[in-house]
Amino acid sequence: MRMVDIIAKKRDGKELTKEEIEFFIKGYTNGDIPDYQASSFAMATYFQDMTDNERAYLTMAMVESGDQIDLSNIEGIKVDKHSTGGVGDTTTLVLAPLVAALDVPVAKMSGRGLGHTGGTIDKLEAVNGFHVEITEDEFINLVNKDKVAVIGQTGNLTPADKKLYGLRDVTGTVNSIPLIASSIMSKKIAAGADAIVLDVKTGAGAFMKTIEDSELLAHAMVKIGNNVGRNTMAIISDMSQPLGRAIGNGLEVKEAIETLKGEGPEDLNELVLTLGSQMVVLAKKANTLEEAREKLQEVIKNGKALEKFRVFLENQGGDGSVVDDVTKLPQAKYTFEVEAQESGYVSNIVADEIGVASMLLGAGRATKDDIIDLAVGLVLNKKVGDKVEKGESLVTIYANQEDVKNVKDKILKNITVSDKQVVPTLIHKVITD
Ligand code: URA
Ligand code: CA
Repeated sequence: MRMVDIIAKKRDGKELTKEEIEFFIKGYTNGDIPDYQASSFAMATYFQDMTDNERAYLTMAMVESGDQIDLSNIEGIKVDKHSTGGVGDTTTLVLAPLVAALDVPVAKMSGRGLGHTGGTIDKLEAVNGFHVEITEDEFINLVNKDKVAVIGQTGNLTPADKKLYGLRDVTGTVNSIPLIASSIMSKKIAAGADAIVLDVKTGAGAFMKTIEDSELLAHAMVKIGNNVGRNTMAIISDMSQPLGRAIGNGLEVKEAIETLKGEGPEDLNELVLTLGSQMVVLAKKANTLEEAREKLQEVIKNGKALEKFRVFLENQGGDGSVVDDVTKLPQAKYTFEVEAQESGYVSNIVADEIGVASMLLGAGRATKDDIIDLAVGLVLNKKVGDKVEKGESLVTIYANQEDVKNVKDKILKNITVSDKQVVPTLIHKVITD
């Protein structure tokens, strides 16, 4: 087999075989196939697309290019939730203990954040002592004992994807549905998921800016998952404005605790119940979505979800008493209010730009090695659709610096107040196979 023939076949729009796709991924991973051929292949795929079979083969070839986490010693169906990323996305912090409280095993491998989207591990590390440097055995034991644990990226997972993603980034081939879908799904499968719930974000703060593109990506991933034997479903949720009110690591932990007590922001609460119900059904802990939702609401009400969060934090070295006293989280030295310049209704809050504003305070990383400030960030006092009077606070800034003029300016530029009230949509679509 020769790579040049595989490239030409894709260029001409013909369907590749499993063997041809495996030949490419194996050869590219071990260095036999050079970057220039892989980049040509990616470009041909960008223009010619891939069939459902090709997408499934590519995904599994990437899964098999490196280590795979073996979660077979964990009892029950391991359902993983994946979000395509957004601003102030606090869902994982709430969902993990919440569904674990219904005995759904949550064995989560997570990462740190880069850019304006924060990583789950960074957020959890705002809890004093909490760490994710545990062995795979400890990880599995914790999930069996208490149903929830988070481990940092271990092993050499999907090296083919790492290499190919890096190449796509510099060859104009990131934005290809089959390549994005196989990239994301390969990582979830290598991390051991039996079933997958996808939260595909759409809007300014998301990777996919339009509902049409988000829908294409969601369908592609759901199809791949189901074709390779992992029960998969997706929802398309709004990321035109940030999710919830808090943006920033410690602030989001506080928001998660409030949500686990049933006192969180409406949108975050609704998203968590929607995703959580799907997870509970996929894990076969409820028969219908309605039953699942009721059970989730019950463990919020009776305190079991919050208690699960405490146990989870303590199992991994964290100070579980933060759930009773959120002032134990890192506290910023200063707060500032961003006041509305006119009266009306908030009609737009540009998610990615608000994310950048929070990064200017030190809440996010510009490069991989940056150290982030876990105390700083933003709290939105108004969300899209809310009425506001001139002079009222739109946003509270939590900072460790006295001069926040650039942050204030950026926020004001990216929140629109107008005469007409718009009603935001949170969940645009639910996609099953
Ligand atoms: N995120 C991924 O993990 N892979 C892609 O290809 C794009 C976004
Ligand atoms: Ca939030």
